[in-house]
Amino acid sequence: MKTQVGIIGAGPAGLLLARLLYNKGVNSIIIEKETENYVRNRDRAGILEQTSVDLIMSSGVGDNLKKEGLVHSGIFFHYNKNKHFINFLEANNKKTVVAYTQKALVGDFINKAQDDGLEIIFEAKAERIEDLDTIKPKLFYKKNNKEQSLECDFIIGCDGFHGISRVSIPNHKEETIEKIFPYSLYGVLSDSPPISENIICGYHPNGCSIQSMRGAHLTKFYFQCPNDTTTDSWSDDEIWDELDLRLGVKNTRGDILDKKVIPLRSMVCNKLQHNRLFIAGDSAHIVPPTGAKGMNCAIGDISVLSKGLIDYFINNDEELLNNYSKIALKRIWKVVRFSWWMTTTLFLDPKQSQFDTQMQLATLDYLFSSEAAIKSFSENYAGLPIENQ
Ligand code: APR
Repeated sequence: MKTQVGIIGAGPAGLLLARLLYNKGVNSIIIEKETENYVRNRDRAGILEQTSVDLIMSSGVGDNLKKEGLVHSGIFFHYNKNKHFINFLEANNKKTVVAYTQKALVGDFINKAQDDGLEIIFEAKAERIEDLDTIKPKLFYKKNNKEQSLECDFIIGCDGFHGISRVSIPNHKEETIEKIFPYSLYGVLSDSPPISENIICGYHPNGCSIQSMRGAHLTKFYFQCPNDTTTDSWSDDEIWDELDLRLGVKNTRGDILDKKVIPLRSMVCNKLQHNRLFIAGDSAHIVPPTGAKGMNCAIGDISVLSKGLIDYFINNDEELLNNYSKIALKRIWKVVRFSWWMTTTLFLDPKQSQFDTQMQLATLDYLFSSEAAIKSFSENYAGLPIENQ
């Protein structure tokens, strides 16, 4: 089989890329290792930056997002028995964030792809890439236990942290910079309405906690836990009591539908392309969920990469494509910095000193006492500008 752009992975990055290329007449095929049902039902991220919303709307797949997305006016911080609210609409020229699940977004993109005959091959696991030093690299994948190959002009790795694309880039190990945090997050999805339609971040001596949402009747909680925690370490009642304590509120309780312990890391591969192979999204970088940046950073990469590919195929101009890595990395590192800043400000390192704790409290006190700090926080949270957008 042949195509212009072979895409590995039907997550937000791969699906959005295929859509943006299709809209300009560039052919692609997505190779996805999981079943369609599995991909459609994965509960992952849930907050879209304004920049992401704008791009999704421009892709023609924004109808449901427009109807069902919950526009947030800002974010709450609860600490030292104070409740502070940062109003993005006021501080950031009405640029804010919208709560709309990655699951819903992925479903919208798959539906539209199927309506338009955009090919997504599910249950097809990419195994290796060959002829990377030619202008016709080949992607080999297994489908129904039979090896198939796809000859491409370009191969785009949107296959997440555990995919094959980053590791197919020569010297990827030397180019990858990583930080493992000394704590994890215990994630809880509950069948209960969030007590606040805006996100709440809690700073507490027991550790960080976050209330987010996955719709008007599904609340997503996170709370800091030690790295050796397992989901059975906490009973449902203990979880609810701890969330009430750390968030300083009385949460509406409901059935807990899902629990997972998420180890926290930040990772960036400083080389996002090699000849005709490009990587984007979680295959290129990982951030802790603290700043709600994973999906948004993936979308930011695709905004640049899709333009580069369209310029190449439609305008016969490869300038942007040749500079994809340099351009995308500038924004990636700023997003990784913000996620790191939120995490190290809100989480208590088991080994931190009294001085470290004072620095965290002073950071929060400064944030709520300065318009400049609020403006800076708001522009980072609602989404930094994407070059070439
Ligand atoms: N062959 C085919 N598909 C693969 C392979 C492979 N070898 N390896 C991984 N995949 C698929 C996964 O099954 C998944 O559907 O690639 C897709 C990667 O999607 P995501 O992990 O969602 O990555 P991305 O599109 O970059 O979106 C990042 O997703 O994981 C969350 O928190 C993350 O919100 C962020 C967003």
